[in-house]
Amino acid sequence: MEETATLRARNSDFWARTAPGWVHQADRHDEIGRPMGAVALDWLRLQAGERVLDVGCGCGGTTAEIARVVTPLGSAVGLDLAEAMVATARHRFTAPGGAGPRFVAGDIETLDAVPGAPFDAVYSRMALMLLADPVAGLTTVRRSMRAGARLAATAFRDGRVNPWLSTALLGAAAHLGPLPPLPIGDEPGPFAFADPARVTRLLTAAGFTDIGIHPYDVALEAPDDPEVVTEWLIEIGPAGAAYRDAEPHIQGQARAGVGRLLERFLTTGTGYRLPTGLWLITARSDGTSTP
Ligand SMILES: C[S@@+](CC[C@H](N)C(=O)[O-])C[C@H]1O[C@@H](n2cnc3c(N)ncnc32)[C@H](O)[C@@H]1O
Repeated sequence: MEETATLRARNSDFWARTAPGWVHQADRHDEIGRPMGAVALDWLRLQAGERVLDVGCGCGGTTAEIARVVTPLGSAVGLDLAEAMVATARHRFTAPGGAGPRFVAGDIETLDAVPGAPFDAVYSRMALMLLADPVAGLTTVRRSMRAGARLAATAFRDGRVNPWLSTALLGAAAHLGPLPPLPIGDEPGPFAFADPARVTRLLTAAGFTDIGIHPYDVALEAPDDPEVVTEWLIEIGPAGAAYRDAEPHIQGQARAGVGRLLERFLTTGTGYRLPTGLWLITARSDGTSTP
């Protein structure tokens, strides 16, 4: 595995370059991606008045959903590494007078604690497996929680139960310019949390207790519109930056390549159903060093 500093620089460069695709796809991703986090939100059973952190909040859709439950008495803070996504989240969801969720740009691995701490609950949808140094990031999360506060997050299991995920790369790569390096072993990437024993070790090292890791299967539903669905998938993935740099006719070839690989998930007239295998990861802060 590469040095942490190399992985961290690669992660920050990756998200800076991929952010424009996420910004472009923000509304569509809120809709299609909802099942990837619903189980964690259900587990948290958020109450009005609670203070909640959303780690790796992207363009803010889930933070806004949380804010609808906990504010105005409580608060919802979304944190993300990519400044362009945080700016988009603010633009999409900040209400007049500054009401609603609050968004912070920063690296969870290098903050002492997240502004707005201590939190009663922490939520994270499909982000923790992307950390260059997960123990450092999870330690910041735990330090930002009050004693006994709860964490619920989702992450992909492995490639076999998420067969659609690689299609964006496999179908588009032949048409596009250089792509970012693929993760090896435990390096940050979609399947870095595939091994639940590793996830338990990381959470324990960061000071969490009552750790639960449960498989959870969902199907993402996307419309019967190959142009739209292939572009969504390419733009939020590792080929996203190269795709946005490509000429329109090359983009069309990339979409067509992905579309062919996705055909088996499409029922004409109904839409795509993408089988998705998740972990629901739950834990509590032991509260030893809440600020
Ligand atoms: C796969 S996206 C998920 C975004 C959002 N949670 C969702 O489900 O739509 C992962 C997000 O984690 C963010 N991220 C990655 N590493 C991070 C870090 N070290 N600190 C904060 N955010 C990070 C990325 O910028 C990206 O927005």
